Amino acid sequence: MASDGKVEAYGSGISIDLKGKVALVTGSSSGLGMEMAKYLAKAGATVAIHYHSEKQQANNLAAEINSSGGKAAVFGGDVSNAQQVESIFASIDAQLGPLDILVNNAGIDGKRELCGDDNPEDWLRVISINLIGPYYCSREAVKRMKKKGSGVIVNITSVHEFLPWSGYTAYCSAKAGLSMFTKTLAQEVSDFGIRVVALAPGAIKTPINKDVWGNPDTYKDLLTKIAMPRMGETSDVAKAVTFLASDLASYITGTTLVVDGGMLLYPAFKHGG
Ligand code: BGC
Repeated sequence: MASDGKVEAYGSGISIDLKGKVALVTGSSSGLGMEMAKYLAKAGATVAIHYHSEKQQANNLAAEINSSGGKAAVFGGDVSNAQQVESIFASIDAQLGPLDILVNNAGIDGKRELCGDDNPEDWLRVISINLIGPYYCSREAVKRMKKKGSGVIVNITSVHEFLPWSGYTAYCSAKAGLSMFTKTLAQEVSDFGIRVVALAPGAIKTPINKDVWGNPDTYKDLLTKIAMPRMGETSDVAKAVTFLASDLASYITGTTLVVDGGMLLYPAFKHGG
């Protein structure tokens, strides 16, 4: 501490180096996943870009990363299908080598439907993609990471692992389930050098919620739900994922990092109670 009370800067700063690591980001052909793939590649990781239906966007992203000095390859498939997940991992083994970092990002909000007026198939689809998908991918990842004696799994949950959201019982149940999956798996694999963490984004501007931020009335309403005066950017989340995947987070496991600009802070209380 300097005499004027300021903290002195020293050294050349902290950097994240993921060189030599292979990282899979599920659902990285758009939105949050796309930005995560870019950040992990910038930090030096070789990135497996995964898509379900947006093949062209995934190829474009790989081309962008490869032409700017990074390393990326593309893998397609349905995360809610165990056989397809097995073959995605087998292809990654063959092309890039066994995985060091898994980001379970692929997910859907699903339709807004009130329980009882809903279609059970829609409910099951949300649970299949948002909860069973991360389970299938994690079990393949864990098999490989145990052999290496190291690895990191980052599960992208949501503020809705904590916050109920009317019309989205499937989504909230899947995200709360994924949070408990994170903790339980973290406990299971802690002796093998593997960390499992969750990251809960708030309202981040992506195609998933365009119907809300694309309309001035619902956008205004959304901003009242966030303590900070803005929606999140995909980079806000991608930076946090890169940190969690790195050794800077070496003692963090089985917990959730919330990246929500204060959505969980009951922002309405800013105006009295
Ligand atoms: C959902 C978004 C929503 C945000 C905040 C996220 O998990 O995917 O659609 O804007 O939560 O409610």
